[in-house]
Amino acid sequence: MHYFHYKNKELFCEEVPLRAIARRVETPFYVYSYRTLKRHFKAFDSAFAQAPHLTCYSVKANSNLAVLRAFFNLGAGADIVSGGELMRALNAGADPRKIVFSGVGKKKEEIEYALDSDILLFNVESSQELKIINLIARKAGKVARIALRINPDIDPSTHPYITTGLNENKFGIDIKTSLQQYREARKLKNLEIVGVDCHIGSQLTDIAPFIDALRSIKDLIFQLKKEGINISYLDLGGGLGITYSEETPPHPKQYARALLKELKGMKCTLILEPGRVLTGNAGIIVTRVLYTKKSEKKNFVIVDAGMNDLIRPSLYGAFQEIVPVKISRAREIVVDVVGPICETGDFLARDRRLPRFRPGEFLAVMSSGAYGFVMSSNYNSRARAAEVMVSGKDFYVVREHESYEDLIRGESIPEFLNPKRR
Ligand code: LLP
Repeated sequence: MHYFHYKNKELFCEEVPLRAIARRVETPFYVYSYRTLKRHFKAFDSAFAQAPHLTCYSVKANSNLAVLRAFFNLGAGADIVSGGELMRALNAGADPRKIVFSGVGKKKEEIEYALDSDILLFNVESSQELKIINLIARKAGKVARIALRINPDIDPSTHPYITTGLNENKFGIDIKTSLQQYREARKLKNLEIVGVDCHIGSQLTDIAPFIDALRSIKDLIFQLKKEGINISYLDLGGGLGITYSEETPPHPKQYARALLKELKGMKCTLILEPGRVLTGNAGIIVTRVLYTKKSEKKNFVIVDAGMNDLIRPSLYGAFQEIVPVKISRAREIVVDVVGPICETGDFLARDRRLPRFRPGEFLAVMSSGAYGFVMSSNYNSRARAAEVMVSGKDFYVVREHESYEDLIRGESIPEFLNPKRR
């Protein structure tokens, strides 16, 4: 459920017509609905209300400061994977004791920064990382709270690029050796074992893989208990899918009910790391039609948003709905919606039945609030899009469209390349 809707054939975000934003902000631009973000967070978080839990929003899905602040105001914690995300989260007002740090490649400086910030825990992904965290904590005279990220070898049946819990993936510690790794971790004096963690993939539309993962982790927790290692946090990661087209993912309530049923009798705080389910359908990208053209085989709609702005269709072959910002009477034709980038893979939709568009019209690519702007780049030296947040009848530019100066910031031409003075 989101607050993008038509009124008099005109697409609105809450009470703001998108054309009103397009008059003020250069296209393409992202638009996030505050009311939708809030609704999604509350629906998710309240689904777990009966159990001690912490909803750590997965910052990677959409790390705009305003989006982060919106969630932190509602009591969210943060799931981060880099020093940059930690900086953003702290900057947006996150409570450090609600931050969990995941990722296979944490650098020394990032670990120091997180320790210094007194985050809740590190989700550790290898035995070498365990030792490094211990060493850094020792030098700092601190004790680092850790969980081991377990790879339970479960197939989440999602796109292979976003599957993370199979033993062929780089993530986590093989469940078969995990007990041994916990024993090793216990010997390290500057670590405090507090949890078990797992994240099996993203855009899951079925509950079964979550439950399978949870069952193997439960077994591990019981074994750990027998050895005197008490687990106070069980982090089940993120991954709950959304509807892009025909998918019918479970509602957070069903997801929570299924997990909580499995967890009965377990005395630990549940940590969840939702990303896409909170922001995905709370955002869109608005783009303008530049040209249309016809080849022998195809009709093309060339728009001003490219794969550098929204890479999901090119990278994963992902389907995202495209709708007109103003509904016209034009009849439908089958088109490829493509961007200005010099690559054949630069498309937003292929063979899509859409109304015949004219140059100057605006289109909205729906479900772009997660893994949209955050995955954008400056490829083809294109400035990145603005981000706008709508609340009720007001809108706010929460990130400016980049300028040409932004594009060359930090670059320099060494003296030896300068033409010699005569
Ligand atoms: N926790 C961990 C450790 C993760 O790696 C991820 C996502 C999440 C939580 C949040 O997952 P979510 O609830 O959003 O599914 N760029 C891809 C998705 C990559 C997901 C990476 N990890 C896409 O556009 O589909």
